[in-house]
Amino acid sequence: MKKIGVLTSGGDSPGMNAAIRAVVRKALYHGVQVSGIYSGYHGLMNNNIETLDVGSVGDIIHRGGTILGTARSETFKTDEGQYQAIENLKANGIEGLVVIGGDGSFKGAEKLSEKGIAAVGVPGTIDNDIPCTDFTIGFDTALNTVIEAIDKIRDTATSHERTFIIEVMGRDAGDLALWSGLADGAETILIPEEDFTIDDVVSRLNRGYDRGKKHSIIVVAEGIGSGMDVGHQITDKTGLECRVTVLGHIQRGGTPTAFDRVLASRLGAYAVEQLLQGQKGIMVGLQQNKEVATNISEALERKHTVDHSLCKLARELSI
Ligand code: F6P
Repeated sequence: MKKIGVLTSGGDSPGMNAAIRAVVRKALYHGVQVSGIYSGYHGLMNNNIETLDVGSVGDIIHRGGTILGTARSETFKTDEGQYQAIENLKANGIEGLVVIGGDGSFKGAEKLSEKGIAAVGVPGTIDNDIPCTDFTIGFDTALNTVIEAIDKIRDTATSHERTFIIEVMGRDAGDLALWSGLADGAETILIPEEDFTIDDVVSRLNRGYDRGKKHSIIVVAEGIGSGMDVGHQITDKTGLECRVTVLGHIQRGGTPTAFDRVLASRLGAYAVEQLLQGQKGIMVGLQQNKEVATNISEALERKHTVDHSLCKLARELSI
């Protein structure tokens, strides 16, 4: 293999730049050239491709976002779009492709692999919703951003003796809510993977207030619906005044944590190794602190699950 390409796709996540750097430097280390594809699959279809040299990925390991830009493309979901992308890969002499992104991006990599392109997926999303890897690049940073925000809200919750609801991202996955709620000692965590009723939430609140608690933090994953609705329902049942904070896109940016930089460096380099060994149609991930490769179609068929023991622990510790 003489030349590979790298692109970032879907929602950006902190650590994507560290992953791009690792792909470029690892490939160059092995004498393989690298093309950077700008704006994800959209850029690939439009031939928005440039050579990346060793210096082009200097001074980016600590930056959030992605220097390659990213996009979500509907056209690429069509056969026509995919054949256009393949034509451009061939015209540029690109023999292997590293795709850094979430499950939508992996579906694109799967389609390209089915059409004969050696594509490898690197999991980059704040949602931590990709199966076959314990962590995705960006999750740890987003988690720390959420925690910092909740810590601040907690100060006000305590001072004003108020009930606060914090809605966090995660798409259909509850990881960000679960881990931040556990790390912040939230009284209640609502995620799509665990059943709940508003009556349960209210009785937990009342139990706390009965034993003298003056405030409460409820973390809500966006996957269950809106935090505002949860707030209205609690107010209707209790008369309590709730304040709702939707953290939004603040969770996507920012300086990647050391964990995300190391994860991105490991997985980016491992993806290149896999391509050079002739692998295709795979995703790379970290399982029990070891880099692993999984067939991308198998990974996409599996469903990501949260660690239910953490849900139990969070409940036990927030009595
Ligand atoms: O997948 C990352 C993510 O931030 C999700 O948590 C969220 O649901 C979604 O992307 C938001 O997408 P957009 O940036 O397109 O509004």
